Amino acid sequence: MSERWTSDSWRQFPAKHIPKYPDAQALADVEAQLKNYPPLVFAGEARQLQSELADVANGKAFLLQGGDCAESFAEYHPDNIRDTFRVLLQMAVALTWAGSRPVVKVGRLAGQFAKPRSSETEEIDGVVLESYKGDIVNGMAFTPEERKPDPQRLLQAYSQSAATLNLIRAFAQGGFADLQRVHGWTMGAMKDSPAGHRYQETADRISEALAFMEACGINATNTPSLHQTNFYTSHEALLLGYEQAMTRIDSTTGDWYDTSAHLLWIGERTRQLDGAHVEFMRGINNPIACKVGPTMDPDELIRLIDALNPDNEPGRLTLIARMGADLVGEKLPALLRKVKNEGRVVVWSCDPMHGNTIKAPSGYKTRPFDQILAEVRRFFAVHQAEGTYAGGVHFEMTGQDVTECMGGAQEITSENLADRYHTHCDPRLNGSQALELAFLIAEGIKEERDAHISVAQAS
Ligand code: PEP
Ligand code: CO
Repeated sequence: MSERWTSDSWRQFPAKHIPKYPDAQALADVEAQLKNYPPLVFAGEARQLQSELADVANGKAFLLQGGDCAESFAEYHPDNIRDTFRVLLQMAVALTWAGSRPVVKVGRLAGQFAKPRSSETEEIDGVVLESYKGDIVNGMAFTPEERKPDPQRLLQAYSQSAATLNLIRAFAQGGFADLQRVHGWTMGAMKDSPAGHRYQETADRISEALAFMEACGINATNTPSLHQTNFYTSHEALLLGYEQAMTRIDSTTGDWYDTSAHLLWIGERTRQLDGAHVEFMRGINNPIACKVGPTMDPDELIRLIDALNPDNEPGRLTLIARMGADLVGEKLPALLRKVKNEGRVVVWSCDPMHGNTIKAPSGYKTRPFDQILAEVRRFFAVHQAEGTYAGGVHFEMTGQDVTECMGGAQEITSENLADRYHTHCDPRLNGSQALELAFLIAEGIKEERDAHISVAQAS
């Protein structure tokens, strides 16, 4: 780490997964232009999210984070934004209802464009080109022109993020998210799915509860949280030049905030203690997260926590475990124990997607629904055994009726994957699968809550 943090001190450190642009001057010009663009989020909102995450760290709330693996320019459409937002609201309803705890809602959207890739290049029929690294960097088509990193894409990603966030803000605060409309959030294909039916039952009970509250004098006029919701944005802080350009001093506190999203995270491939990404992230005052995969060692984790959250502020740091269903039981306990014994306060969240990616017999990259569910269940069980709090979940999902993950009540098979496989990167849960998973997780949360209540009553 450098002695003194500045928004560009990361440039002195080795940076993995940041593309090399053929025209460095063109990149510098675009970054200079972005520096003068309006912030996408305000520092006060980031502080509000941190205080909600502090409640998660203290076991009083639950974190739901989800959205695309990679947003794309091609799938940019208001209906897609609305559908993902709706499913996240529905998932939050299932989780809130089960846990009787507030659910902090964070989208992987309005800026989730840049992708780290396992291989720098891709080869097809003897032709080798740079890998696709997300629409903010290059294009997906396998041609030399498309695969060349183009700085102009940063501006398009900024503009798409701004418009996406604008619509999300309108949905969250303009009445769309009003709990009175809880029935209206179910759409097309989901209406007839088992998860859709289950959702309607929960929605019926919520409507009854709202009618009862109304009779008691509690309504959207005197209780705005019934009419609107807080919804936050997040993405992986991978392209540090973009993040630096969006990082500004907040005039009310004099502190640095990365205004490209409320929450930023460090990916599994860029979490090196002596690397550029950790250096950049330690200096911004947003709440931040870091992926934690199976190679993480407990002592290394403590050093990382100390670099990223030296004052041990609750809500500042979320650790997103992504071990894989087969490894979570073996690898997670030592990490939980170490963090607890050393007195570090973090939010523990579970990403059951990235450790469970396989190649289906049909050749598609996929994730079996059962493995995703198994990782979440084991994550909860390990927390229960260690006496720590399973604070949240992190999904790659979409509101669209895609066929990218196998299984679930729709029983998507290896052969079905070809039907609607649209992702620009990793396979996502479709709307029905995401909601089904939320209900299954909700059952686990309810059991945990009931166990706590009975322990409390017995003592
Ligand atoms: C991601 O979240 O899309 C991602 C690349 O995850 P990870 O860094 O955990 O591999
Ligand atoms: Co992904």
